[in-house]
Amino acid sequence: MRTRSLFSLRRALVSLLLSGSFAVSATAQDKPVPNPQLASPEINAKVDALLKQMTLDEKIGQLVQFSAGFATGPGSEGKNQRFDEMVAKGQVGSFLNVVGADATNHFQHIAMEKSRLHIPLIFGLDVIHGDHTTFPIPLAVAASFDPKAAEIVARTGAEEARADGIPWVFSPMVDIARDPRWGRIIESNGEDPYLSSAMARAWVRGYQQGDLSKPDSVAVSVKHFAAYGAAIAGRDYNATDMSQITLRQVYLKPYKAAVEEGAATLMSSFNSINGIPASADPLTLTQILRNEWGFDGFVVSDWGAVAELKNHSIGDGPTVARKALEAGVDMDMEGNLYGTVIAAQVQSGKIPVAVVDEAVRRILRVKYALGLFEHPYTAPAPPYEPTQEKRALTRKVADETIVLLKNDAVEGGGELLPIKSKTVALIGPMADDKPDMLGAWSAGDPKYVVTLRQALEEKLGGDHVLYAQGCGLLSGEDARIFAKNGGPQPITDENATISQAVDTARKADVAILALGEPAGFMEGEAGSRVHLGFTGHQQKLLEAVVATGKPVVLVVVAGRPLQLKWAAQHVPAMVEAWSPGFEGGHAITDVLFGDVNPSGKLPSSFPRAVGQEPLYYAQMPTGRPAGNADLSHMPANSEEKYLSRYVDEENSALFPFGWGLSYTKFSYSTPTVSRQSVPVSEIMGSRKPVVTVGVDVRNTGSVAGTEVVQLYLRCPNVSVEQPLRELKGFTRVTLQPGESRHVEFPLGFDELNFYNVDLKQVVEPTTYDIWVGGNSLATAETNLKVE
Ligand code: BGC
Repeated sequence: MRTRSLFSLRRALVSLLLSGSFAVSATAQDKPVPNPQLASPEINAKVDALLKQMTLDEKIGQLVQFSAGFATGPGSEGKNQRFDEMVAKGQVGSFLNVVGADATNHFQHIAMEKSRLHIPLIFGLDVIHGDHTTFPIPLAVAASFDPKAAEIVARTGAEEARADGIPWVFSPMVDIARDPRWGRIIESNGEDPYLSSAMARAWVRGYQQGDLSKPDSVAVSVKHFAAYGAAIAGRDYNATDMSQITLRQVYLKPYKAAVEEGAATLMSSFNSINGIPASADPLTLTQILRNEWGFDGFVVSDWGAVAELKNHSIGDGPTVARKALEAGVDMDMEGNLYGTVIAAQVQSGKIPVAVVDEAVRRILRVKYALGLFEHPYTAPAPPYEPTQEKRALTRKVADETIVLLKNDAVEGGGELLPIKSKTVALIGPMADDKPDMLGAWSAGDPKYVVTLRQALEEKLGGDHVLYAQGCGLLSGEDARIFAKNGGPQPITDENATISQAVDTARKADVAILALGEPAGFMEGEAGSRVHLGFTGHQQKLLEAVVATGKPVVLVVVAGRPLQLKWAAQHVPAMVEAWSPGFEGGHAITDVLFGDVNPSGKLPSSFPRAVGQEPLYYAQMPTGRPAGNADLSHMPANSEEKYLSRYVDEENSALFPFGWGLSYTKFSYSTPTVSRQSVPVSEIMGSRKPVVTVGVDVRNTGSVAGTEVVQLYLRCPNVSVEQPLRELKGFTRVTLQPGESRHVEFPLGFDELNFYNVDLKQVVEPTTYDIWVGGNSLATAETNLKVE
């Protein structure tokens, strides 16, 4: 599938090269073909033939999507009837939140048997980190630095969704998220465009399998296009504002990767970008997505985003519907503006019918490619049960996602982890909590969650786990608001006291504290926070238990980087477990006791203080760097005032991007390049690698372990300033004690280019600095000359 797209891009490159320019841009005639199924002449002939038979109302019906989530529930008769009639008249093209064979078949039978042209409906659903079987949240999956893990999550989700009558998932979310105040960071791959792009491709592969027609493939909806993650001040739905270079070089990268991988649909976002609402933005939706990237699928709006354009103050209902449609939003999710105000504007000539036709074509292509015309129905499936096989998969993925943040030696022994004691105190509101282990955006039943308490009792025996909840995740007013918002009942302070927890800690040799934030209300969509500490009285609990003098292992269960500075100063061992899903308790226990050697790495920088946000490692240079001139985000050990630094906190992250410890140690040789210098023209002429960077990685410890080897580069002294370092390669390597492995990273145009002021991707003569190591502070260095 990718060969053709690469080939045409290469053609574009070569022709531009011949024309004497070292810049890349795709022109209309050189449009790549990222998904050959959607571009296929057979499917397009069928679409055109059908389109010819359609009335204007039937065409517009294809652009309409409703949420009918309760249409099959009790008391839903009126709603059902309304939707039944609309489907029969061809006034609906899609539903979301209609789940299960019975519910989907109900509507599909009406569409196939009663509507004039028998066009199948397409059912969409938020399948974010698994469908029923709940895996760790996507941010955690990114922490594995293992694209195969993302493929596993996507594949399992796709199979279960398909069994539920769902051929279309609103996933993956690939928004770059550099600000953990934004609750939706949980759905993202974190702060880095290279990591996010690799994960984006893997999610798409897992869902679509390179072939939409397979009965267990689902079409993806890559979201939220575009730049939703840059919401100003981390406040959800807020505007974004950035340079065109940053937009293309950072924020658009993962969407582009997903499109190149064949993504069938995208979802347009709620935010505005540089003053233009994303759901009415011809630049991103048409110029970039369709003309430059060659996307042939369709774009659905986010929930009500077309109608909400009125709140963006760019016109009344008819005007904003026209703007959205003309910009390239093909389907209106749950706003019903297209269904009510487009027809009249086509009839009056205000909207050319060709615009409607094009949107319908894009939607029908996906329906044909999915095989919905031939196989519109879903066979009833037995009720869901998590099989041992599925549990094993979720545990394997969760094992890879856990990040060992800190592991200091304690008095009278070595490093605190893995735990050697046979009896432990287990304390904290996350220790025996089921719903919050699932994380936001989960459809899994909390009853299937293995809590940390259950897993520890299984491993050590009930008598050896001394448990005290200590406090709630929330208390007082917060708990009341939480409950009112329909989330699962939060764990509150009721029946739990800090003094009980302190007594419990005193009885064991080691205390495990499981703390975090409630997933349902405080994370995910509309879960923005300005305080990133532990919620409720958890900080007090932590301080009280630490004050006992017992060695403390802090396990953090949360969907975002929390502010952990106090803990990092006072607690010897810290484990980031994210929201780990069904097998969370087992996975955390695997790591705590060394049955699994942790290998996760942070996809997102952890701040010392919220005031540092947005904090990310790929900082731009400044004229007044603080501390090390090459890495101005490193500690500012200077008493000089007029530097780019805070006067009351270090610049650096508490735990930087790519960070994660192991129970063993790895050493790195000085990296080498396969060629000392490469001509610009050779790099520009192909997307093939032109040079490899090699390094020897050795396990110098006494246990086997997996290291995520990371390559960073800097492109200095070129026409547009570039970040101080950027990730451009990573790979997981498992080594036995004493074992060494030679690792190679290919570099070519994709890794070496940047956008110049004309928004062209270029490579300019320079000497790249290259570092390889186990996190973004890597020091083993080499250089590559480009002339
Ligand atoms: C969210 C999307 C989601 C959609 C449908 C919106 O509120 O922003 O991510 O796919 O709802 O549920």
